[in-house]
Amino acid sequence: MTLPLPPGAQVLPDAEAVARAAADHLVAVCADRPGERVAVCLSGGSTPKRLYALLSGPDYAARVAWARIHWFFGDDRVVPWDDPLSNVRMVREAFGHGAPIPATHLHFIPSDLGAEAGAAAYARTLQDYYGADALEPGRPLFDLVLLGLGEDGHTASLFPGKPALREAAAWAAPVPEAGMTPFVPRITLTYPALASSRRVLFLVTGAGKRDPLRRLAAGEDLPAARVTSQGQVIWLLDAAAAEA
Ligand code: 6PG
Repeated sequence: MTLPLPPGAQVLPDAEAVARAAADHLVAVCADRPGERVAVCLSGGSTPKRLYALLSGPDYAARVAWARIHWFFGDDRVVPWDDPLSNVRMVREAFGHGAPIPATHLHFIPSDLGAEAGAAAYARTLQDYYGADALEPGRPLFDLVLLGLGEDGHTASLFPGKPALREAAAWAAPVPEAGMTPFVPRITLTYPALASSRRVLFLVTGAGKRDPLRRLAAGEDLPAARVTSQGQVIWLLDAAAAEA
């Protein structure tokens, strides 16, 4: 029996199917915008590694509009980019050498500046890309946002009870104290930035995510529940996560 699930949830057989479904969404997002640049916001953590490897692998590499996509990060840990905890390092390793990403299209979070200055600098990076300092309804910043779900219901580095949840203006925020391991300072996109999107995909796999999913389905006000989009918010779950 599957859990009562968030609206927009799709249950797939396993983590591989979740990764492939997400890859298909990315291909579709690019096809929806022929000839246009496309902004994709990457998730950190371990779940999306397979997706990133798929995109640069033989089944998808030729279908990804590499020259048109700009890659951003939903959050990162305030560690050096070559640190094992860095999402930049995780993404680089997962994409491997099969991803012909132009150097100017990979927009890292400047975690070397520290949480406060790094958040301010990343907000400027986003605004420079967007071409304005204020987000306009109907002109989303991101074409696709990829997110994960933490066991405490966090997403990106928006943790329960932390001040970044209340940030309603800045596009990125410092998170001096993470709510879950790794307990290092973070930089996260805020709800307004994540909401400025055409499509949001949550990738959630494994039995360890049953509890937060159950809590979300019960209507608990967890950070992940507050994510909105100008388009669809789609939950891609594997059976292990969705089972009651
Ligand atoms: C991070 C992510 C974080 C992640 C969840 C789920 O930097 O860690 O942004 O929000 O998506 O914690 O992580 P897993 O995919 O490893 O379960």
